[in-house]
Amino acid sequence: MAVERTLIIVKPDAMEKGALGKILDRFIQEGFKIVGLKMFRFTPRTAGEFYKVHRERPFFNELVEFMSSGPVVAAVLEGEDAVRRVREIIGPTDSEEARRVAPNSIRALFGTDKGKNAVHASDSPESAKEEICFIFSGLELV
Ligand code: RTP
Ligand code: MG
Repeated sequence: MAVERTLIIVKPDAMEKGALGKILDRFIQEGFKIVGLKMFRFTPRTAGEFYKVHRERPFFNELVEFMSSGPVVAAVLEGEDAVRRVREIIGPTDSEEARRVAPNSIRALFGTDKGKNAVHASDSPESAKEEICFIFSGLELV
């Protein structure tokens, strides 16, 4: 298995709950190295650009509104098989389903429902590369 990089974003709901430290610590405990870290606030426009694959979906406006509703923290995580493993650690999209099927996942522990689900993670090596470049410049990665 190759060493990969993937992007996570601690979403506004988890920031509001004060869960940032616990979420970052979970990834550190799972053996990932943080190679980029940034706090910022999406505008509706930049949130829409980030989630552009969902432009036609019925939940798009709600998603853009939620993601631009407060500050977020993005981190680039490096480790073996990082894209797949990080998706496993965050759990299913719907936090209520996560509590049923993956009770120790981050979304089970810190998410509320299908929309407010505490954390984003890249879903493929290709989208990881694109999303990392969208948020970080080369100089901001170590
Ligand atoms: P993410 O991209 O944030 O890591 O989430 P994901 O891959 O698990 O799920 P995805 O299908 O990519 O959906 C992106 C985000 O849109 C919101 N969503 N709301 N109300 C709904 O039915 C609904 N479905 C999705 C969630 O915030 C989801 O994480
Ligand atoms: Mg997704």
